[in-house]
Formats: sequence, structure tokens, C-alpha cells
Amino acid sequence: MKNLLASILVAAVSTATAAEAPQDFGGIFGRGINLGNALEAPAEGEWGVTLREEYFAAIKDAGFQHVRIPVRWSAHAALESPYTIDPKFLARVDWAIAQATDRGLAVVLNMHHYDEIFEDPDAERDRFLGIWGQLATHYHDAPATLALEPLNEPHKKLTNERWNELSAAAITLIRKSNPTRFIVVGPGGYNNFQQLPHFKIPAGDSNIVATFHYYDPFHFTHQGAAWVGEQSKEWLGKTWSGTDAEKADVRKAFDAASAWAKEHGVAMYLGEFGAYGKADIESRVAWTRFIAEECRQRGMASAYWEFCSGFGAYDPKTNEWRKPLLEALGGR
Ligand code: GLC
Repeated sequence: MKNLLASILVAAVSTATAAEAPQDFGGIFGRGINLGNALEAPAEGEWGVTLREEYFAAIKDAGFQHVRIPVRWSAHAALESPYTIDPKFLARVDWAIAQATDRGLAVVLNMHHYDEIFEDPDAERDRFLGIWGQLATHYHDAPATLALEPLNEPHKKLTNERWNELSAAAITLIRKSNPTRFIVVGPGGYNNFQQLPHFKIPAGDSNIVATFHYYDPFHFTHQGAAWVGEQSKEWLGKTWSGTDAEKADVRKAFDAASAWAKEHGVAMYLGEFGAYGKADIESRVAWTRFIAEECRQRGMASAYWEFCSGFGAYDPKTNEWRKPLLEALGGR
């Protein structure tokens, strides 16, 4: 009896410690890649990417540790309360998550392109939380290697001030059913690292992970990117060769992001970085290699933007990696 009591006590204590101990997000998630332009398109396939089983196999074989899966939940949930998510779409996302986790790839599942909330955060608040309530319940017993990211790149009217309040509400909601799951959350202003000083991350929860996106110099990474505007044509031909000054700019940003994370006692995750295919390949490779290496040196998990579309490290026509980019990312 005494022994039994003692072992129950030990079990209780170790469970409590496990729940409170910060898990090694950087080590588990390591190098990753975004499955962009698929499930965050208005409908899968509309932006040229339909997820296939062999994509997950190729990502695993190349040595990546995780995928980030951007999802446009807002296009697949009812407009009226309780904002029911289309079960077929949810099943499709579950399929993608299973493709990854069955192969030992960790997953960051986000909410992407909720355009309506950037225009009118007050009107969309209930729906945003309603969708997250459903997702939190649905994924509450998923493997610990599934991380949830409440919202990609808050911007426009979803200012830092509003996002600080709304992200805290989303985290509180998710925590009710997922007490220790990794939650990834970043600042307003498109998750730009420069916005970190304005970002309030809930204190005392070591399984909350901060995130930022890095696309600087923007005129280099987004040259010819029609979706950022006509002026992007004027940036065509910009190169990046890794001069001392160019490297110093990157290091300054990453030092600032790391220092912020340290100060707040959380891990930092680079959820997106990439240079669009209109830039020359030598510059893209040099830039990508340097960023990936800066992350590695800091023990920071990162995800390249993106797998097989305009920034693609993988060519979906030949079903082959673009080797120089893959190598720059540390893949094989
Ligand atoms: C952001 C946008 C995505 C875009 C990427 C690069 O994630 O949401 O649509 O492709 O940045 O510009």
C-alpha cells in the first residue's frame, strides 16, 4: 500500500513537471518548409498546388523535421454562429496532418489569409474565436508534435494593440483543451521582427513559442511579386551576394529577435523566409543559406517559404528538388 501510494505520488509529481517543463521546440521542429499555396488558397488547387502524398515523403527524405501548413479556415466555416467548419475540408486538413505525423514530421498548423479580420477585427472576433474553439477541441488529443498558430501575419486594422488582446483570448481558449500544446504566435505588422517590442506574449507559459517572418531586403526577396504591387517590377535584377553589410543587417535582425525571446522566456521560430523565383538563383541560394545558417546557430527552428510554388525549393513538374536551394536549406 505504502509502495503504491509512493508510486502514485511519484507519477503525479513527474506528470506535473513534464507539463510545466519547457519542451525543446527548436530541437523538435528544427528545419522545416511551408506547404504554401495549397490549403490557404480560396480552394485547394486554385493557386496551382494540390497536396500529394509524395510531397510529404520527399520532405521527410530530404531531412526536414517539420512542415508548416497554412490554412484558410475562414473560407470553409459558416458565417453564422457556431461557425461550423466544413467537415470535408477538416478531414482534408486531417489527412495532411496525418501524412506528416505518420512520417515523423512535426506540424505547425496555422490560420492563414483571414482577410476579413484584417478589415474589421471587431465584427470578426466571435467567428475567429468560434473557429479556434472547434479546432482546439478537434485537435486536443493530437500528438504533441502538432503546434497551433492562431493567425498568420496580423495587419491593417488588426493592430498590435487589438492583436495583443485577441491573441491572448485565443490562447486562453486553446489552453482549456490543450494545456501543454505548443502555440505559435507573433506580432502584428505582418509578423515583422521590428514589431516585437509592441507585442505582448502571455507570461508564464513556456510552451508558447514566439514567431517572426523575415523577407529582408524586401526589394530583393519580392522582386517581380505581382501581389505586392506594380512597383515590384522595378526591383527586378536586385541581387544579394552576402557582403559584410548585407550579412550585418540579417544578424542585427536575428540578434534582436533572439534577445526578445530570451527576455520573455520563450523559444523563437522563424515561420517564413524565402526569396521569390524572379530573383537570380545564385542570390536566392546565397541568401537562403545565410538565413538558414543564422537560425541553426541560434538553435531557432525555421520554415522556408515555400515548397513547390513561386518560391519553390521543389519542382512539381519534374518531381525533383531544386538542389542548390535544398542544399542551402541544409537538406539532402
Ligand atoms: C505571406 C503571405 C503569402 C505570401 C508570402 C510571401 O505569408 O500570406 O501569401 O506568399 O507572405 O509574400
